[in-house]
Amino acid sequence: MKFTKSIPLKGELRVPGDKSISHRGVMLGSLAQGTTAVTNFLEGADCLSTINCFRSMGIDISRTEKEILIHGKGLHGLSAPSSCLDVGNSGTTMRLLSGILAGQRFSSELTGDASIRKRPMTRVIAPLSLMGGCVESLSGNGLAPLRITGRPLKGMHYQSPVSSAQVKSCVLLAGLYADGQTSVTEPFLSRNHSELMLRSFGAKISSKGTTATVEPEPILIGQKVEVPGDISSAAYFIAAALLIPGSELLIQNVGINPTRDGILKVCASMGAKIEILNSHTCCGEEVADLLVRHSSLKGTVIEGALIPTLIDELPVLSVLAAFAEGTTIIRDAQELKVKESNRLDIMVHHLTAMGADVEPTEDGMIITGGKPLHGGVLDSYLDHRIAMAFAVAGMAAEGETEITRADCVDISYPDFYKDLEKLKK
Ligand code: S3P
Repeated sequence: MKFTKSIPLKGELRVPGDKSISHRGVMLGSLAQGTTAVTNFLEGADCLSTINCFRSMGIDISRTEKEILIHGKGLHGLSAPSSCLDVGNSGTTMRLLSGILAGQRFSSELTGDASIRKRPMTRVIAPLSLMGGCVESLSGNGLAPLRITGRPLKGMHYQSPVSSAQVKSCVLLAGLYADGQTSVTEPFLSRNHSELMLRSFGAKISSKGTTATVEPEPILIGQKVEVPGDISSAAYFIAAALLIPGSELLIQNVGINPTRDGILKVCASMGAKIEILNSHTCCGEEVADLLVRHSSLKGTVIEGALIPTLIDELPVLSVLAAFAEGTTIIRDAQELKVKESNRLDIMVHHLTAMGADVEPTEDGMIITGGKPLHGGVLDSYLDHRIAMAFAVAGMAAEGETEITRADCVDISYPDFYKDLEKLKK
């Protein structure tokens, strides 16, 4: 896929449904009694993997034109899958599902593609083992494939070493099957979609600071879930509109949950002109329209508690930083090394290849912005967020940028390139 300096982006756009919320809608819908209807479900490869896994465990999931219908069978209604469950590229599916499977009365195996088989699973094996669960890495190296032998679980308090919603959600979901209360404390608060959705399905769950606590054996009741647009997908359009002179975009119906809105805070600190309009709550999640205008940007510091609130936006934020005046420091972002690719390394490599001034650090990078960027041939490393972030870079840089293996955007945004094209006016 090739990109050159773009003419202004103008008009209105709706990005696809939130990936995290779509996954959780299928999972909780499957464990609930009655039917759950999910509208604006993200039809990306990751969420389709979640659907396939639950279908393999006996859940009837159908599609109408406007919604996904999940015919839940209750907390104890899953049946043993006849073969290994395949999560594809999806970390959320593997880690959240591990928590659910640990408390079942059957055994199962989980695997996925080459990328997911390199990502650390000890972060879920460790807490589940503390709960009395039996989760084994089949090759004994803490990586998938995993074999999960369902067992009765003990409630516990888990002090998580990482601020990860996947770890937190895994433990909370296992806690539904435990013999007592289960709580998780994390260093900084990560996205809280599991907590919000569990509450709306009828679970007893509370949150205080960075601790979430769930009571076992709830009766979950099927719900109507309206998935807001994914702020992580909106991020590429926000960045493109900010960088391309003359642009003005209205991105409608975007989830702005405060545990996800770090990109808006960072953009504001960089001097971006973004108006938050029509803010309201839908199914417990905050939603708004974002009016974004081309802006001149300055450097900033991105660190600490902000990091989990923009973890998936760091590739595109690093692109913004390269075009901003002054220095941007990204710290505390070591989690980026274990995403779909080693994003820290690839961000540094690709930005440098485009002529940016970037210095890697242990847990982030220092970007001295304002040098003119030029195109090049950049591989996606089959990481959807790398492909989309550098597509935006290519639309603001001189010359031609080619993204190779660009189809990986199917993971979270199958129509990404088409939607970009439609806005060129
Ligand atoms: C996700 C949590 C984040 C994020 C991922 C989706 C989720 O991962 O990067 O894309 O849906 O819970 P971590 O929890 O590992 O940070």
